[in-house]
Amino acid sequence: MKYKAYKERLTKIADIGYSIALLGWDQETYMPEKGAGFRAQQIATLSGLVHENFTDKELGKILKKLDENPKKLNEKQRRNITHTLKDYKRQKKYTRDFVELLSRTTSECFQSWQKARKENNFKLYAPHLTKMIALKRKETDLLGYKKHPYDALVDQYEPGARVADLDVLFKDVREQLVGFVKKIAAAKQNDDKFMYLHYPKDKQWDFGIDLLKQMHYDFAAGRQDISAHPFTTSFNAKDVRVTTRISEDNLKSMIWSCIHEGGHGLYEQGLPDSEYGLPLGEAISLGIHESQSRLWENMVGRGLPYWKANMPLLQKYFPENLKNISAEQFYKASNIVTPSFIRTEADELTYHFHILIRYEIEKALMEGKLQVKDLPEYWNARYKEYLGIKVPNDAEGVLQDIHWSHGSIGYFPTYSLGSFYAAQFYATAKKEVKSLEGKIESGNMLPLLEWLREKIHKHGKYYSAEELCKKVTGEKLNFAHFMNYAKEKYSGIYNIK
Ligand code: CO
Repeated sequence: MKYKAYKERLTKIADIGYSIALLGWDQETYMPEKGAGFRAQQIATLSGLVHENFTDKELGKILKKLDENPKKLNEKQRRNITHTLKDYKRQKKYTRDFVELLSRTTSECFQSWQKARKENNFKLYAPHLTKMIALKRKETDLLGYKKHPYDALVDQYEPGARVADLDVLFKDVREQLVGFVKKIAAAKQNDDKFMYLHYPKDKQWDFGIDLLKQMHYDFAAGRQDISAHPFTTSFNAKDVRVTTRISEDNLKSMIWSCIHEGGHGLYEQGLPDSEYGLPLGEAISLGIHESQSRLWENMVGRGLPYWKANMPLLQKYFPENLKNISAEQFYKASNIVTPSFIRTEADELTYHFHILIRYEIEKALMEGKLQVKDLPEYWNARYKEYLGIKVPNDAEGVLQDIHWSHGSIGYFPTYSLGSFYAAQFYATAKKEVKSLEGKIESGNMLPLLEWLREKIHKHGKYYSAEELCKKVTGEKLNFAHFMNYAKEKYSGIYNIK
């Protein structure tokens, strides 16, 4: 009976939470600009309701009872209770004063960041970011941690991830990937000029829809729209929205953002709706979520078999631009590796240097070893060291990301974890799905999706990221899989011996 009461409460909280998500989706897609003021108020009111309901003492009592009598529950129920109790205890650690101060600091910090980036003036941002970092250090004390203060923050995005493990991964990135990218830079470069011809919007849109259908993204349980920054949002497994953007002089932008969000969308559509509102009905972590988008975007969508399947269709949409381009040429052009300043525009290899730099900075800030005023200098020195480029100004350097201005410290590593998990999962899929890439080459994506559904999607949060990785691949996360994938693929593309 107590479990039923728990489930009812969580379902109600989810109903409000997903209504907030719907308002958020609308805000990014169709809301007229004058609607912004009251929309922010509506979202704040509902968010307050979620917080009130979730930190309700009655819920705390129910959780405690259930946790003390685990024999009355089955394994799935036990795991739901463990997750919710952990979240409940975490929420309870925040004092009202802290929450209010954080919320005020966040809005000031975000505004100063926008201005600073526009005017290329870090000094406008520095005092606010300094306050934010001090608060985040205080937050690590509130939340508590065993070894490293950063652990307390990263756990919110990637439960179970610890500095001790991340240090090993990023050491591998530094020692193995930096050298390999230098070899690529020294090799003969490929041409991708044809990607930047004129590609009319409506035809790109239609091609994107074709790609999503081919992935078996369910349009009866979702839809695609246009937004400034592509994203995926879900209101339940039967209503999952993706967005994309289209640039008429850059074919790459739509294609891979569309496949990327499609990968996120497939994960959400594959979660068990019998567990609606409960942890087991949700994704495991940001890293595992990102593994699903990047597996489709990079391992599949930037692979040669995929373009052997899809080049004829793409040529039908854009015969003038692409009639003389082979699938091999298109494949090479979609995998150009070159160091750049902007993280979101980076290729799938140098991308991880951008994350490595942010990880080192965040850790040093939380340790108190790095001061905000020294950030630009530190940032530029790392870009020189890892990417070999001179950052032209702070707007294209330390001011480029929104994350810190929102107080999101510990978020960045999940992007790299996503790619590394993706490579490891894909290596296993290739072993377990009979002639997987042959099937992709014939345009049949279903065997891959069914494998992902069975191994990953349908479990929701039943396993932790580490448990899932061991269960699916036989070992914990290991950077060697990403490195093997990178070497095999790019040695071919760039003729590296
Ligand atoms: Co993503």
